[in-house]
Amino acid sequence: MDDDRSQLANALRQHLLLERGFGVEAYPRGGVVPAPAPLPSAPRPAPAAPAAAPAAPPIDPTMPESLDRIAAEIAACRACGLCAGRTNTVPGEGAAQAELVFIGEGPGADEDAQGRPFVGRSGELLTKMIEAMGFARNQVFIANVVKCRPPGNRAPEPAEMAACIGYLHRQLALIKPKVICTLGNTPLRAMTGDPKKGITSVRGQILDWNGIPLVPTFHPAYLLRNPPAKKPCWEDLKVVLKVLERTAGRP
Ligand code: URA
Repeated sequence: MDDDRSQLANALRQHLLLERGFGVEAYPRGGVVPAPAPLPSAPRPAPAAPAAAPAAPPIDPTMPESLDRIAAEIAACRACGLCAGRTNTVPGEGAAQAELVFIGEGPGADEDAQGRPFVGRSGELLTKMIEAMGFARNQVFIANVVKCRPPGNRAPEPAEMAACIGYLHRQLALIKPKVICTLGNTPLRAMTGDPKKGITSVRGQILDWNGIPLVPTFHPAYLLRNPPAKKPCWEDLKVVLKVLERTAGRP
């Protein structure tokens, strides 16, 4: 009986540590409160046209392949319509030899403003997830399927993904991570080439991308809307850690 109780207490302690790692500091009384239905929005004036992004300097064709070269090509890219609305390109950031690469969908407003991936609310949660796994954010690499912000935070269209995915493939070929973790449906579909794949049915499985294990999990924005999904997400991140032969803990 005492054993049962101490096992239960241990499990509870582990769970609370995990929740804290994910940034949960307090719990609503009576369970999770569903998000309120969105209010019907009043028509808004059309946003002002974004200022045209400054032209990027030309690329020296003799420059050897590197993450910097790829970033320079992205800065000059006009391969799809997303370039028209961007403030900054968001090539990705992190360790050039990261063991672990996270792949999101595409930059949002905060990322477009700063030229860095996952720096808004989703990014705060992703950083907590990374730290709960025992990494510092700069020890992993964080990238997106598309490198320019889709307007209104819509999902990137197939033609936009097709125009951009080569940059991500080249980044992965250079970094050679031991494992890739995709966040949400868009990167899962882009990396498997299967537009019908859904995160709920494959999350936590170990897929394969060109010989590199790929573990799909939920997007942090989904976790912010659906806090109970943090638990299965943590299970998925433990699969990632298992591939890396690491245990969770603070960096
Ligand atoms: N969501 C993404 O998918 N990527 C980002 O960089 C930020 C939010």
